Amino acid sequence: MKFQAPKGTHDILPGESERWEWLEGRARAILSRFGYREVRTPMFEATDLFVRSVGESTDIVRKELYSFEDKGGRSLTLRPEGTAAIVRAFLEHTLAHGQPISRLYYLGPMFRYERPQAGRFRQFWQIGAELIGPGGPAADAEMIDLFVAIIQGVGLRSVTVILNSLGDGTCRPVYEERIRAYFAKHAEALCGDCRERLKTNPLRILDCKVPSCQPVLAGAPSVLETLCDPCREHFDGVQAGLRALGIPFQVAPRLVRGLDYYTRTVFEVHAESLGAQNAVGGGGRYDRLVKDFGGPETPAIGFSIGMERLLLSAGPEAGGAWAPDVCVVVREEGAAFTALALARALRGLDGAAPDSGRDGLRVIVDVAGRSAGAQMKWASKLGARYAVFHPQDSDGYPVRDMTAGKDEVKQSSVEALKRWLLERKAGS
Ligand code: HAM
Repeated sequence: MKFQAPKGTHDILPGESERWEWLEGRARAILSRFGYREVRTPMFEATDLFVRSVGESTDIVRKELYSFEDKGGRSLTLRPEGTAAIVRAFLEHTLAHGQPISRLYYLGPMFRYERPQAGRFRQFWQIGAELIGPGGPAADAEMIDLFVAIIQGVGLRSVTVILNSLGDGTCRPVYEERIRAYFAKHAEALCGDCRERLKTNPLRILDCKVPSCQPVLAGAPSVLETLCDPCREHFDGVQAGLRALGIPFQVAPRLVRGLDYYTRTVFEVHAESLGAQNAVGGGGRYDRLVKDFGGPETPAIGFSIGMERLLLSAGPEAGGAWAPDVCVVVREEGAAFTALALARALRGLDGAAPDSGRDGLRVIVDVAGRSAGAQMKWASKLGARYAVFHPQDSDGYPVRDMTAGKDEVKQSSVEALKRWLLERKAGS
């Protein structure tokens, strides 16, 4: 019987997994420098959590949830995004601790039953950050600054930040009414999906990609014309903040995003290499969600970045390759166990505290009993820098520089050998 990974999922294999590790490391380091701390929530939550936050009429809830009933009869759903779970955990564990600002981040797989295509999967990874508490435009500016810092931190340069405001509970209904009336007038020119959206979620029509809808969309009134004074002031503040930080952006009055919890600021980052439809990431303000989940009135803002898309647009230069520092070549039958002990000592793990691994080497040993020649071939194929021959000669351990193809001075003891190899590693 032959098995394959389920449609829309992908394995991350050696060769690629190093790039993922590198990317995660970079992102974590940047998040930490901005003061964000990690939250790990479960992969599944009560279905209602997503229905109530992402929104009943969104594509994510209507078509894309992986929902199931467990043996206890509960309806559960594999998380399609991270924000709802973070807010749930924030309230469940009173993470605010009386502080006005909580900076949280997460990193992990999300699940959406979408039609798989380039940059679109059914299981994909997100890095997300949420800033819960402050409602002023400085928080929005920090969020976008962090977003851009992560993107630039992995080497992406040609990206565009697009920005919009969706208004709040006061002015959004006014806009929704206006746009509903406009689209109702042009209903015959809209696609079937949009005619459906006209009844449930007219704002989403602005996001339609069907070509025949585009002329109608082009003439639609802009949300920015209906913003109330406080929303207008907030949006002006966000733009002033981005200018002060030297972050270029474009205002995009048709940017609506695919989740219902947004209020005021929404934003996306697009990379040239991904094409117009696929954002590297996106986010926005969700000032009502904490309250909707039964908490106190608490504004919040966040974003998430799709890791597959980030890697796709970062190109092959992103991330370290893996190669061993040393291959211990076993030259005698029966010397495998002592070779393993030598490798352990070179790795810096022999009786050492676990966190001293920083001073160790990447060491591989043949445990398949192959000939010395076959081991050398294997080591060179993996890109090992040095080969060390075991057991040692009477005058020390022979070492060969595999890259330069030359023999080095023999090292008289394990300690001397280790020191010598570490010095070479630090110098390279
Ligand atoms: P989102 O726009 O639905 O927002 O997703 C954010 C990013 O996740 C997208 O820009 C994309 O890079 C990636 N992504 C989404 N769906 C897929 C897919 N099927 N395959 C590959 N990548 C995908 C959110 O999820 C919000 N929770 C963001 C947020 C955080 N808003 C406030 N806080």
